[in-house]
Amino acid sequence: MTTSTRNRQWIYASRPDGAVGLEHFQLREAPLPAPGPGQALARVRAVSIDPAQRAWMMTKTYRPQLVPGELMPAFALAEVLESNAPGLKPGEIIEGDFGWQDYVVVTPERVQRRDAAKSIEHLMGVLHFTGLTAYFGMLEVGRPRPGETVVVSGAAGAVGSIAVQIAKIAGCRVVGIAGGAEKCRWLVQELGIDAAVDYKAGGLSEALAAACPDGVDVYFDNTGGEILETTLSLMNVHGRIACCGAVSQYDQGGWSTGPRGVPGVLIFKRIHMEGFLLTDFLKDRKVAEKALTNWLRSGKLKAPVEAVNGLENAPQALIDLLKGRNLGKMLVRVS
Ligand SMILES: NC(=O)c1ccc[n+]([C@@H]2O[C@H](COP(=O)([O-])OP(=O)(O)OC[C@H]3O[C@@H](n4cnc5c(N)ncnc54)[C@H](OP(=O)(O)O)[C@@H]3O)[C@@H](O)[C@H]2O)c1
Repeated sequence: MTTSTRNRQWIYASRPDGAVGLEHFQLREAPLPAPGPGQALARVRAVSIDPAQRAWMMTKTYRPQLVPGELMPAFALAEVLESNAPGLKPGEIIEGDFGWQDYVVVTPERVQRRDAAKSIEHLMGVLHFTGLTAYFGMLEVGRPRPGETVVVSGAAGAVGSIAVQIAKIAGCRVVGIAGGAEKCRWLVQELGIDAAVDYKAGGLSEALAAACPDGVDVYFDNTGGEILETTLSLMNVHGRIACCGAVSQYDQGGWSTGPRGVPGVLIFKRIHMEGFLLTDFLKDRKVAEKALTNWLRSGKLKAPVEAVNGLENAPQALIDLLKGRNLGKMLVRVS
């Protein structure tokens, strides 16, 4: 395997006031890093493109706000090339927060080994953060029961596309909310959900009410904002809202206010609204991976991926993700 002598790195260059653009990133070339004692050199195979990367620019989240000049952080998969680290062997596939770059020097305690027999696409999506988030958020926070109506926003995205299918497997009537007629058609025809509503078409409130004639028992919220407010008004008594993300809020200067109805609607309908982070559930990761793997094998679960080739295209991939130009998990193949 040829190794370059240079390491390309995408730097977060400046803070966006509105939508993020190419001007907020800078491509830098650094010398190839050399592994010291106890370290290994790995070549990045693929990097994850996530809405959270935009939220990290906006504000402090579960991690400190990004500072211009930093390497763009990202979950990534890499292949070990040479190793002075006990337990890391050349050829092994590892995962970690390696950032948008070609090569990374790692120590064993900062990485997890992954099964090299599994596809990079599965290791990056359905068997990783987005699939696990859908699994735990739906089953542990949403707790759907057979026959209930489950609504998922961001339904055609990485987390959403898995969440809707898990709710179907749980025996529910499933309604997805997504941007555009094509995504809605795909959700119904390809993923087999019961109905899909295009929030960009206008009249969301009426369309969602028509798609949920018995109200909403579980709402898996990927978007926050107006979609949350609209769905809130359709919730049934003792409904559950799993707050997974707020992507409608990320690609702007800061949080907007709202939604109206909190806490009033929560009180008189006794709704349980709960935010969660995947990290709260990682101790049960193996159980979830097994279930997801079995569903994939049996054909009950599809794992759509939007893969872009070339590290040079990572910033554009993030821009495209935030504009909704993806079906399923967005990732960049680096090598
Ligand atoms: N809690 C956790 O531990 C955890 C872990 C991973 C991800 N998340 C959250 O899960 C959510 C989905 O993440 P993902 O990785 O699966 O991304 P994704 O859904 O694949 O991509 C983002 C999607 O957001 C939609 N979107 C963009 N702007 C929007 C707006 N203003 N209103 C409504 N939808 C908008 C777009 O789809 P449309 O075409 O439909 O607009 C786009 O495809 C995010 O909020 C993320 O922060 C949470």
